[in-house]
Amino acid sequence: MKITFARAVQPTEGALVVGILENRVLTASARRIDEQTGGLIGRALAASRFEGKKNQSLLLLTPAGLDVQRLLLIGLGKAEAVDALAAQAFGGNAMAQLLASGDQLVTLAADDIEGSALSAAELAANAAFGAKLRSYRFDKYRTKEKKDEKPSVKKVTVSLGDHAAAKRLFASLDGISEGVFLARDLVSEPANVIFPESLAAQAKALSELGLAIEVLGEKQMKKLGMGALLGVGQGSERESQLVVMRWMGAADESEAPVAFVGKGVTFDSGGISIKPAAGMEDMKWDMGGAAVVIGLMKALALRKAKANVVGIVGLVENMPSGTAQRPGDVVTSLSGQTVEVINTDAEGRLVLADALWYTQDRFKPQAMVDLATLTGAIIISLGDHFAGLFANDDALAANLLAAGKHVGEPLWRMPLDDPYDKQIKSDIADMKNVGGREGGSITAAMFLKRFVKETKWAHLDIAGVTWAKKDAPLTPKGATAFGVRLLDRLVAENYEQK
Ligand code: BES
Ligand code: MN
Ligand code: ZN
Repeated sequence: MKITFARAVQPTEGALVVGILENRVLTASARRIDEQTGGLIGRALAASRFEGKKNQSLLLLTPAGLDVQRLLLIGLGKAEAVDALAAQAFGGNAMAQLLASGDQLVTLAADDIEGSALSAAELAANAAFGAKLRSYRFDKYRTKEKKDEKPSVKKVTVSLGDHAAAKRLFASLDGISEGVFLARDLVSEPANVIFPESLAAQAKALSELGLAIEVLGEKQMKKLGMGALLGVGQGSERESQLVVMRWMGAADESEAPVAFVGKGVTFDSGGISIKPAAGMEDMKWDMGGAAVVIGLMKALALRKAKANVVGIVGLVENMPSGTAQRPGDVVTSLSGQTVEVINTDAEGRLVLADALWYTQDRFKPQAMVDLATLTGAIIISLGDHFAGLFANDDALAANLLAAGKHVGEPLWRMPLDDPYDKQIKSDIADMKNVGGREGGSITAAMFLKRFVKETKWAHLDIAGVTWAKKDAPLTPKGATAFGVRLLDRLVAENYEQK
């Protein structure tokens, strides 16, 4: 699907999309169309319950007086509340209606909205971003999909006066959307296609964009002493990997980087502590944290972020077999600390323990954020709207909360406090890898904390938000890539030279 920006000219084919503000207030484009059609929009509004609220829409077919096949009215909400997210929803909701409508050409009319903080160019760029995000499909394995079920839209044109400015603004948003798409693809792929080595190869391919990529195999990790990560992968036929991705975009090469660390369990069967059959297929997306880190690095490279960033992903497959680790095994982590593995299904924290230690030891980052589909308990706590945030630094937490709010990937801060640490005491090792049912996400975070020294650090438990069961304005159901936009924003606002 191609996205272009053009001077406002009236389309003669396809679908035309115009915004309507709350309480049926017409935008300038809507007013123009209304006049031209002898009051068509006014009559349609009067005949329907569409009021112009955010996420409402009203579709008019073969509108008399226009050359287009469809006129789609999209609610923008209140003028003062038209922000980047509302503009993205405008584009996203339009695509939801039109993607498989049969029309090939979609024209989105962007307007200057009095009262909104956005310029028409900002509104246009964000509408295009939303349209692109919502147009995502993962259909490569559907060989028998009927033609009338396939997307028909080939081209989206956003029309406005200042189209050159919109195009410039969209260039970096487009880079972010490419990172989102990569993360969604990686999460959607099944575990027979994406396993540690093939996922590492996908990361490696990003070197084309100017990223420096290193891949460590089992031999190197064994030499380093990553007993916690390697223990998880030892039951699998697939070799475990650790991938280091570097984007050095700051003017000063020696400036300490910000680091992102992802859990990449390419399939989590639970290991010997095997999971029940029902729903186990979901565990192909237990590499969601790693996918987001890889997608983020792509986004940063594409938009040439002026910051030094390292992305590190620990890639393993957690399988039961004759060589698998057993409940009760004790492993020695890279940090030197020993862990009693009570439950082999609490494997993500073992992977992260070594990845986090390696990251801070080698890169001395100014801040470190990990992402992991770590616990089912976070889904019980927060459902699928918020990801859990745990942090040892209030300023970093505040920056993450603000970034999440801005991009519509919200976080909720959870406690990370000493009393919970007792729950992971072990009788025979420095700690055990589970802390009981109570506060399961918090004890998991407390486990990770034991592998963080003085570094400013935050942990995002994304188990509830990585896969969507329902469509949303910017995300068709399936892989969300939750975290790519959030962390891109975190970098842009806090670690880039302006
Ligand atoms: N990958 C799972 C967590 C998960 C569950 C992610 C559902 C997405 C959806 C993780 O490795 C796991 O199995 N956690 C256990 C921990 C328990 C054994 C302490 C869990 O949450 O049940
Ligand atoms: Mn598990
Ligand atoms: Zn897992």
